[in-house]
Amino acid sequence: MSSQHRKLFVTTALPYANGPFHIGHIMEYIQADIWVRFQRMQGHEVHFVCADDAHGAPIMLKAESEGLTPQALVARIAATRPKHLDGFHISFDHWHSTDSPENVALSQDVYRKLAAAGLVDVRTIEQYFDPVKAMFLPDRYIKGECPKCGAKDQYGDACENCSSVYAPTDLKRPYSTLSGAVPVLKSSEHHFFRLSDPACIAFLREWALGGRLQAEVANKAREWLDADGGKGLVDWDISRDAPYFGIRIPDLPPGAPPKFFYVWLDAPIGYLASLRAHLDRRGVDFAAFLADPTLEQVHFIGKDIVYHHTLFWPAMLKFAGAPYKVPDRVHVHGFITFSGEKMSKSRGTGISPDVYLDLGLDPEWLRYYLAAKL
Ligand code: 2FM
Ligand code: ZN
Repeated sequence: MSSQHRKLFVTTALPYANGPFHIGHIMEYIQADIWVRFQRMQGHEVHFVCADDAHGAPIMLKAESEGLTPQALVARIAATRPKHLDGFHISFDHWHSTDSPENVALSQDVYRKLAAAGLVDVRTIEQYFDPVKAMFLPDRYIKGECPKCGAKDQYGDACENCSSVYAPTDLKRPYSTLSGAVPVLKSSEHHFFRLSDPACIAFLREWALGGRLQAEVANKAREWLDADGGKGLVDWDISRDAPYFGIRIPDLPPGAPPKFFYVWLDAPIGYLASLRAHLDRRGVDFAAFLADPTLEQVHFIGKDIVYHHTLFWPAMLKFAGAPYKVPDRVHVHGFITFSGEKMSKSRGTGISPDVYLDLGLDPEWLRYYLAAKL
């Protein structure tokens, strides 16, 4: 038994609710689960939670294409979760959803606190709008010819042929992948979290570079913080216009069109929503729980979402203030690869967690293998 009692709030990244788990999800959960079980065996108190990441345009559009409400799609996917969680012996204390009353209340509270701290700006921006679907187009739904090399059918943010990075408005002959229509530029008001504020940057330098992160992860954060002569962080667009499956932005002026939080604003707040639901079930006060100075908040994530968890998330929590606390640690893993490439179902190199379980293979074999490799 360790002499010092630890109280731990532990999460894994919230999976998008538009598809069942793949092996990468299971790997992350097994890594965190082994760590959590070890802490529990030391006699420490652990609260280990996760949730479905339910919001955003892809889920809204997938549901629409299947003639379902987004809620029905999310519920259908959620029903597939227990087979894998139980099958691989993953011991979450609670599984929640970002499309929940707890997350609405917490996301709106964080937003209001950031706005009260003077860290939300409202600005008018121009974006591509699909006149047939009557919606603003996320970058991934715009394609066209690369402005540098002329390759056809390139996405709105980067060219797969010559690797150049650009804005969707730089594309030649742009079209909407949803309707095929030529998008038009349209303006609307967007809400920005002022990540470029000197107070944010100073805090993030201290938080991210102070020794709490793996060396490689801290180096990446330093690269982002030092970009552009130390002015590398740009303000973060946290709002989306209707139609959008998300949480309403509160306190808009009377008569203003509805706006929603960008999914990446309410997704990490979903960690807290899940914790809150878990604590409510046990009759524990959420604010008092977070206020305990011994509490450690620990996140397990993959390397693709380091930016969100080492910049956006700690800054949101820090400047929202009480009852929130900043993360103590973020453990980052790489991807399972096959011949040096990320495993991929579409390339036929994935291991299906479903097939593994259906064949009756012992989950402990995979758990042991991953523990040994991670
Ligand atoms: O990248 C993803 O799969 C996201 N759904 C992860 C969200 S993690 C957290 F912030 F909610
Ligand atoms: Zn190109």
